[in-house]
Amino acid sequence: MSSAGDIVSSAAANNRTATNGHAIAVPTLKTSYKIASIPGDGIGPEVVSATIEVLKVLTKQLDVFELEITDFDWGTERYLKTGRYTPEDYLEVLKGFDAILFGSVGSPSVPDHISLWGLRLAICQPLQQYANVRPTRILPGTKSPLANCQPGDLDWVIVRENSEGEYAGQGGRSHVGCDHEVATELSIFTRTGVRRIAQFAFSVAQNRPRKMLTYVTKSNAQRNGMVMWDEVIKEVAEDFPDVAVDHMLVDAMTVRMVLNPRSLDTILATNLHADILSDLAAALAGSIGIAPTANLDPTRKNPSMFEPIHGSAFDITGLGLANPVATFWTASEMLHWLGESEAAMSLMYAVEKVCAAGIVTKDLGGKAGTKEVTDAVIKEILDLKPQ
Ligand SMILES: NC(=O)c1ccc[n+]([C@@H]2O[C@H](COP(=O)([O-])OP(=O)(O)OC[C@H]3O[C@@H](n4cnc5c(N)ncnc54)[C@H](O)[C@@H]3O)[C@@H](O)[C@H]2O)c1
Repeated sequence: MSSAGDIVSSAAANNRTATNGHAIAVPTLKTSYKIASIPGDGIGPEVVSATIEVLKVLTKQLDVFELEITDFDWGTERYLKTGRYTPEDYLEVLKGFDAILFGSVGSPSVPDHISLWGLRLAICQPLQQYANVRPTRILPGTKSPLANCQPGDLDWVIVRENSEGEYAGQGGRSHVGCDHEVATELSIFTRTGVRRIAQFAFSVAQNRPRKMLTYVTKSNAQRNGMVMWDEVIKEVAEDFPDVAVDHMLVDAMTVRMVLNPRSLDTILATNLHADILSDLAAALAGSIGIAPTANLDPTRKNPSMFEPIHGSAFDITGLGLANPVATFWTASEMLHWLGESEAAMSLMYAVEKVCAAGIVTKDLGGKAGTKEVTDAVIKEILDLKPQ
């Protein structure tokens, strides 16, 4: 076996190690990791199988560690047959894994709030994956829709609170179907929840070269939970004097992301706000088809879950058109989290070389399909040379 440092890609020179929060709790390195693969619905199985193919070649080529991947058929097909997206003991099952690789959930045959709560949120919330980390940058060879926005002008990490807030699931409906029907959707913000995500986001900012954090709330109109967010963040900021911090209201933040992307680095926001802002971020970086997510339990008591930002994409399912780059980048984030940073960087190096060569899918203006991009990334990995 070669040592982890033997294969060095030029991506290592980009100093991307540990910039997305991976260094916050350092894992124990192993020679084998157990990965739960949940491809899910729509294009999920297409991009996850492409990623597993790539990971198999990468681990064989590097010969440093192994990935023992177990596939789960948890998705809408299972729900329609059995009434459940997962077996009842699914959390115990998942706790036996080092990480989870997720595709997407959602199908035209089931309402979205049932599929989302039946699978994705049913994993993130009980496993305390409270930090949702969404790195965004313009990859070489791809173009931002913003005029004059070059790679390097947009290099952000969005940290999304992932356990409460607007997606706490509290509320209800009374007098259903009547004219006087009432529906409530309660946002729940706890001091503990805000403090822990703020501490995480400041640590991410501190580990990035520019050491800048912008936090986003709506504390002019929402005068309770959002004002508490502002107060807690100011308290946490005192423990990170080397991080420059500023505040934006969420509406003004959309303008700044479009007009002055260079002025941003690490961004912290609530569950809903960051969900919306990160789709905008993905589009500004070129396509939602390249954007990755990590749902982290920073305490490492539970496995973390890695997934592309995008959903099931019904309009392109089964056509071989899905961009697999978001899931490749997601897998790279997973390897970073496992502590295998050399492998993570080698994978991104291969992906960036393929993008730079113009082998990209339609969403990025190219002509390649999922398979061509996957084959090209595999070829680049096979060309990686020990130094
Ligand atoms: N994490 C998740 O599981 C997740 C996230 C978002 C949406 N969803 C679900 O997915 C379903 C569809 O949702 P939507 O249409 O709002 O969002 P979507 O992300 O599935 O699709 C939005 C648009 O982006 C395109 N797109 C998305 N991923 C792409 C890729 N890899 N390559 C090329 N093009 C890509 C699609 O073709 C579509 O035009 C819904 O059921 C929704 O609930 C699930």
